[in-house]
Amino acid sequence: AALAPENHENFLKCLSLQSDTISKVIYTQNNSSYSSVLKSSIQNLVFSAPTNQKPLFIITPFHVSEIQAAIKCSKKSGLQIRVRSGGHDLEGLSSISDVPFIIVDLINFSEISVDAEAKTAWVQSGATVGQLNYRIAEKSQNLLAFPVGTCPGVGVGGHFSGGGYGALLRKYGVAADHIVDAHMIDAKGRFLNRESMGEDLFWAIRGGGGPSFGIIISWKIELVDVPSTVTVFAIPRTLEQNATKLLHKWQYIADRVHEDLFISPFLYRANSTMVCLFTSLFLGGVDRLLPLMQESFPELGLTQEDCREMSFIESVVYINGFEIRESVNANILIDDRFIKRFFKGKADYVIEPIPKEAFEGLYDLFYEEDPRTYGLLVFFPYGGKMSEISESEIPFPHRAGNRYTLLYYAEWQDATNEASQRHKNMLNKLFNYMNPYVTKNPRTAYINYRDLDIGTNNKLGDTSVQEASVWGKKYFKNNFYRLVHVKTMVDPENFFRNEQSIPPFNLLK
Ligand code: FDA
Repeated sequence: AALAPENHENFLKCLSLQSDTISKVIYTQNNSSYSSVLKSSIQNLVFSAPTNQKPLFIITPFHVSEIQAAIKCSKKSGLQIRVRSGGHDLEGLSSISDVPFIIVDLINFSEISVDAEAKTAWVQSGATVGQLNYRIAEKSQNLLAFPVGTCPGVGVGGHFSGGGYGALLRKYGVAADHIVDAHMIDAKGRFLNRESMGEDLFWAIRGGGGPSFGIIISWKIELVDVPSTVTVFAIPRTLEQNATKLLHKWQYIADRVHEDLFISPFLYRANSTMVCLFTSLFLGGVDRLLPLMQESFPELGLTQEDCREMSFIESVVYINGFEIRESVNANILIDDRFIKRFFKGKADYVIEPIPKEAFEGLYDLFYEEDPRTYGLLVFFPYGGKMSEISESEIPFPHRAGNRYTLLYYAEWQDATNEASQRHKNMLNKLFNYMNPYVTKNPRTAYINYRDLDIGTNNKLGDTSVQEASVWGKKYFKNNFYRLVHVKTMVDPENFFRNEQSIPPFNLLK
C-alpha cells in the first residue's frame, strides 16, 4: 500500500511540527535499520514474509508527546496505526495491515517499578511478562508474583488488554483482574489515567482488546502472594499407560481440586502412539501436594520422585522448558533468545466432560497426518477464582461453568506454502471434529488466542455492530455490546481499527 509522495512528506512534516524529538525515532522504508526494527518482535514468522504489506513508517517512541504526534498526524494523513508491544499477536495484527499504515512500537516503553511493600507495580506496555516476573521476584524475595501467561516473551500491552493468564489462574484469575490504574492516549491524542478516562473506558481496556480504544502506555497492577516453595511435575503417559483414561478423569477434577493446584495436560502424537503430558504447578510443598493428589487424582500415581520443589520464579523458568541448574538463572526471563517459528492457534471452551470415545476419534486425526505435521492440544483448567468473578466484571467473560479451555496449536520451521497449508488443515480438522464437545451459540473463543477464521470486520472500516457481533460475541459474549457503547463514546470515527476491532454504533448501518 503506497502513499503519494506529497502525503509522505506531509506526514513527516506534521510529525516534526508536533514533536522536536520524533525524528530520532522514525524509521522510513529507506532507513537501513527499517527491516530489522520491523522484524525484531514479530514472533510468528508467517508475518515476517516479504509478501506481507509493510508499514510506511515505524515509530519507536520514548516520550508520550511522540505517541500523541503519531496519532494526530496519522489521522490527518489517513494512515492507520498498528500498536505493537511484544509482537505476539497470533494473527500478526500488530505488524501487518492491508491499508496504508504505520507501526507505533512500544519497545522503549518497558519500565517496571515494583513497590513490594504496597504490593503494587507500574509496568509499561513494552515490557515482557518474563521481565515483569523477574523484577517482581527480585524485589519481593520471591514472595510476590503476577498472574500472567507462561511464555516470557509475551508483551504486557497486548496480554493485559486481552485478559492474560497462566498457571496462577485458578488461584488468582487473569492479569486484567488485577489492574487498578492505567495511562493511555486516546484517538484525540489526550493523555488519560483511570480518573480522566472514566470507569467505562477503564473497564474496556481490561480484556476488551487494547487496539480498539487507544494506545495504553502503562498499567498499575496489584501483586499477588506466592509461597516461598512451590512444587512442579511433568508426567508423560502414552496410550499404553492409560493416557485416555487419565485425561478423561482429569476433566472431572481439574477445575474442582484445591485452587493451589493447577494441572495442565498437553496431548500430542509421538510416533505410533499418543502422549498426554500432565504438567503441574502447586502453590506449596510436596508434603501437601501428595495427599491432595492421592485424594483427587490417584490414577496418575504421582510419587515424591516425580516432584520438584523450587521458588515460584524458578517454576516460571522450569515451565518454559529451561533446565534448572543449581543456582537458577532467572535472568533467562529477561533475555531475548526465544526461537521464532511459524505457527497458528485456535481456542475452545469446554463445559461438559468429553467422552473417552471422542478422544479416541481425535487420535485418528493425528495418525492420518503426514508425520512431519506437528500439532498439539493444550488443556488449561479453570474453576477456583475464575468461577467467583462475574462474567461482566471485565470484558473477558469466560468464568463459572467452564471446566477448561483448549488451545489447538501447530508450528513449523519450513517457510513453504505446503507446510503452512498442511499445518492449518490439520488444525481445522481438529477444530471441526471438536464441534459437538465444546461451547455452542456462540462457540466461545479467547481474544488473546486471536483467530481470524471466526470472523473479521470488512476492509472499508464501516463494519456494522451486527456484522462484528459474529466474532465479537465469541470473544466477549454479551460484554461485546458494552464494548460497542464505550467505542462509540471514545472513538466514534473508528480511528483505531483492525480486522477484529470493536466498531462504533453507526445509525446508518
Ligand atoms: P502484540 O504487540 O502483537 O499485540 C497484540 C494486540 O494488542 C495487537 O492487536 C496490538 O495492536 C494490540 N496492542 C499491543 N500493545 C498495545 C497497547 N499498548 N495499546 C493498545 N493496543 C495494543 N496468552 C495467555 O493468556 N497465556 C499464555 O500463556 C500465552 N502464551 C503465549 C505464547 C506464545 C508463544 C504466543 C505467541 C502467545 C501467547 N499468548 C498467551 C497470547 C498472548 O497473550 C497474546 O498474543 C497477546 O496479545 C500478546 O501481546 P503482545 O503485546 O506480545 O502482542
